[in-house]
Amino acid sequence: MTDQTHIHFDASVHESDPLIARALDDERRRQQNQIELIASENIVSRAVLDALGHEMTNKTLEGYPGNRFHGGGEFVDVVEQAAIDRAKQLFNVGYVNVQPHSGTQANLAVFFLLVKPGDKILSLDLAAGGHLSHGMKGNLSGRWFESHNYNVNPQSEVIDYNELERVAEDIRPKLLITGGSAYPRELDFERMGKIAKKVGAWFLVDMAHIAGLVAGGVHPSPFPHADIVTCTTTKTLRGPRGGLILTNNEDWYKKLQAAVFPGVQGSLHTQVLAAKAICLGEALRDDFKAYARQVQINARVLAATLIERGIRIVSGGTDTHIVLLDLSSKGLIGKQAEVVLARANITSNKNPIPNDSPRPAEWVGMRLGVAAATTRGLKEPEFLTLGHVIADLIDAEAEGRADEVVPGARAAVARLTEAFPVYAN
Ligand SMILES: Cc1ncc(COP(=O)(O)O)c(C=O)c1O
Repeated sequence: MTDQTHIHFDASVHESDPLIARALDDERRRQQNQIELIASENIVSRAVLDALGHEMTNKTLEGYPGNRFHGGGEFVDVVEQAAIDRAKQLFNVGYVNVQPHSGTQANLAVFFLLVKPGDKILSLDLAAGGHLSHGMKGNLSGRWFESHNYNVNPQSEVIDYNELERVAEDIRPKLLITGGSAYPRELDFERMGKIAKKVGAWFLVDMAHIAGLVAGGVHPSPFPHADIVTCTTTKTLRGPRGGLILTNNEDWYKKLQAAVFPGVQGSLHTQVLAAKAICLGEALRDDFKAYARQVQINARVLAATLIERGIRIVSGGTDTHIVLLDLSSKGLIGKQAEVVLARANITSNKNPIPNDSPRPAEWVGMRLGVAAATTRGLKEPEFLTLGHVIADLIDAEAEGRADEVVPGARAAVARLTEAFPVYAN
């Protein structure tokens, strides 16, 4: 006899919830049929996906391995300890907290640890590639702290470290923050660490975008220059949605644990901890190093191709997975480029570039990132093709003849997506 309280319990999503099942299937198809160039995205391994859909999600736990507030945590302890050990090994660091539910939460926990409401924080300007969780007015960090920015040099569009030093000496922040979501160049952690020391600030590096590049050895590590480092496990690290906090400061470790829980979070996302441990294990392997190298190569090929086709690239190139386009060089705004690329199944986003309009509707920038397409297997020849397809679409949009070019571009993208499936099965 069927127990009415369990009528939907063992049914698959397809049997129990057609609306959501259809959206899930459509999303899978979308990912397969589009080339993903949103810089904060990637494609996780099947093993990471397995963990995210695992029964471990049913477990409620607070606290840390060996010291929980609930019973039955012995297997989650295995998972969390593995994530900690792997992150320590990967980034060669003494102390790691793997619990933050997101990058923003990780930053919030660091603020909770190191600064008080009203303290001064100094971070990279949003239009120069910074992140909203570093002091933007609309974010808690901008409301609770006295937030100041440093910028890029208007000519080179690379962080102006002399100017940063001058601003830091003038402001004397409690916390100097670097890292961002749209900064395509290598960060000089050593120089910024020295500036932080000189002005008596703690130095936080948010390596959310570049964590996979650091792990893969193609971007310098923030250690030993940073006092504390945050990142997401998404993006180039190619893991689940979540954050990490890393430090070598033994004195902070216990306080940092308390800053995450109960400071800014409650119970664990247990299944995500398993997925984090898996992605960190993957990042320790040699094939991940090869992946990181390929990401950097692909971004350079894409940037060079677009430059050759007359599109201005912010800072003249890239050292990371990010290529920032200045569409004003073609008389367009970012939104127009985003829409015409989407018509050809290329996913991207408009983005501010240095000195851009404060109004998103007027931004002339577009941010492209190669991490997801590189995971799919695209290499130099494919990024050369993609670069020309993108340039063809942008030129056509600028000249009012997109309708003529979109069908050919769509076909070129389809050839790539068919040749490089997201998952083999
Ligand atoms: C530099 C940086 N920090 C923090 C975050 C926030 O991460 P989350 O979206 O997980 O809160 C991002 C996300 O894009 C980021 O780019």
